[in-house]
Amino acid sequence: MLSIAIDGPSGAGKSTIAKTVAEKLGITYIDTGAMYRAVALEMTDSGIDVNDAKSVIHTLDGISIKLEHIDGTQHIFLNGKDVSARIREHAVSKAASDVSKIPEVRLKLVEMQRKIAEEKNVIMDGRDIGSYVLPNATYKFYLTASAEIRARRRFKELTEKGQTVEYDKIYRDICDRDYNDMNRSFAPLVKTDDAILVDSSDLTVEEVTQTILGKIKK
Ligand code: DC
Repeated sequence: MLSIAIDGPSGAGKSTIAKTVAEKLGITYIDTGAMYRAVALEMTDSGIDVNDAKSVIHTLDGISIKLEHIDGTQHIFLNGKDVSARIREHAVSKAASDVSKIPEVRLKLVEMQRKIAEEKNVIMDGRDIGSYVLPNATYKFYLTASAEIRARRRFKELTEKGQTVEYDKIYRDICDRDYNDMNRSFAPLVKTDDAILVDSSDLTVEEVTQTILGKIKK
């Protein structure tokens, strides 16, 4: 099976790039962040404090998360409901980073991710794909960009979707999530030695895609 891991901080462009590479190679794109977002959504909808690990773990047992590809696009179902749009709300982002610190949450989702990669050729994006989920991935990339550039991109994306957001808050949130994701004790975001570093700060989507495809062809 072919497996391509793309890790990196929030807003580095992982999903855009992974989607394009998946299309070009005819393989399945798996957005693992969507799974953490779905868990976070369930917690916030149920009024559970995402920092209260005991309550989160208790609720986790009863929830079902399923991924389905419809016309090539990943949809995520939480307890049978398609929550693909709702998980993108800004408030869900920090909550997802918070629930992702809890080892029990990670273990449940990692098991699903490994199972998918055993059955299909995948390009999977996340934080711990190359370091923990698929340590033997065929190719590993670490995609990053400066925090300012990532905040600017996120601001543009959210305002284009009609959400009202402040740039300074987005920037602070990105820095907080970086800190959270890089400093948690279990499977933090890290660039492994065998991952190819791609800094997208000064590159277009097309340039990043070509860089990655170039490495894969070799
Ligand atoms: O990629 P994203 O922004 O949609 O991810 C949301 C949060 O989920 C992110 O802040 C950290 C967490 N996450 C993770 O811990 N491990 C992954 N493989 C993917 C996401």
